[in-house]
Amino acid sequence: QFKERVFSGVQPTGNLHLGNYLGAISRFVPLQEKYDCIYCVVDMHAITVWQDPKELKRQIREVTAAFIAAGIDPKRHIVFNQSQVAEHAELAWVFNCVARVGWMNRMTQFKEKAGKDRENASLGLYAYPSLMAADILVYKGTHVPVGEDQKQHLELARDVAQKFNNDFAESIAEHGWGDAFFPLTEPLIQGPAMRVMSLRDGSKKMSKSDPSDYSRINLTDDADAIAQKIRKAKTDPEPLPSEAAGLEGRPEAQNLVGIFAALSGRSRDEVLKEFGGAQFSTFKAALVDLAVEKLGPIGSEMKRLVADPAHIDAILTDGADRARVIARQTMDAVKDIVGF
Ligand code: ADP
Ligand code: NA
Repeated sequence: QFKERVFSGVQPTGNLHLGNYLGAISRFVPLQEKYDCIYCVVDMHAITVWQDPKELKRQIREVTAAFIAAGIDPKRHIVFNQSQVAEHAELAWVFNCVARVGWMNRMTQFKEKAGKDRENASLGLYAYPSLMAADILVYKGTHVPVGEDQKQHLELARDVAQKFNNDFAESIAEHGWGDAFFPLTEPLIQGPAMRVMSLRDGSKKMSKSDPSDYSRINLTDDADAIAQKIRKAKTDPEPLPSEAAGLEGRPEAQNLVGIFAALSGRSRDEVLKEFGGAQFSTFKAALVDLAVEKLGPIGSEMKRLVADPAHIDAILTDGADRARVIARQTMDAVKDIVGF
């Protein structure tokens, strides 16, 4: 359909929240008009940290439901879960043999996720970037919409592609692929980076793993929960400034205004033109209305979809069948190139 291909994934590892929506899933939607899109529930990445099997199954369906409820069309594009297409793991092994230990040692996310007890982290968590490179390159993905926190991983995918192209240059040419087999995937920059912060602490990211449920708005929260969480959100005592520059040094205000701007498709300055000088009570009431208006339908549609697991599973199976056709072609060529 289109010439260029987007790949992106979301882990099924906990309740999806507003940060996942504004920073990732909502940004996948408009790309459907310009690219062939492959959106993957990356369950093999999820198990780099132990997951309860029943929960994992539930989360796979919930992320799928979120993709669809947000407006991703699983018929025109591909939606599936990673573990159904064995070629991801197959290519990741080849990439484990192309990537260098030193490259993995430089990954900041491993250090964050493994914490102090690095010796006891799973080998999968350490090799995660190699699997992520395979996720993208098994489809020869040309573009990846990346959050700030994934930039280093995309760099690594490019390094793996380049080294594979170099290490096997002669064989690649002999098999008729010219001078490069894998593309050097480009990051897709879609406007300013969106980082949604915790509603309880403006210095921390809104996160699935935060123990406080009041720190995040879950996509399946109902109107009452959304309203309560926004009303309880931490703020400072000053009224809102009249332009974005006045948010400097006020992380909680910055966060709430940023959320308002993102949900309404306006800039922070535009939002503050309307609310400059207002008290937070006024602003929060408007934010509650906006959030309920934008997130309410997504939450209800997610609930409707997960209530019919057989239907979601059928979508995932269909997506996997179509993904596998592409992935198998790549993998067969890789086997020829490597000499298997
Ligand atoms: P991962 O561990 O794969 O990054 P997450 O569940 O943390 O999985 O995030 C899924 C997606 O949501 C990623 O693209 C990430 O950048 C985005 N994301 C997560 N939290 C936030 C946040 N607080 N603000 C903006 N984007 C976020
Ligand atoms: Na993340």
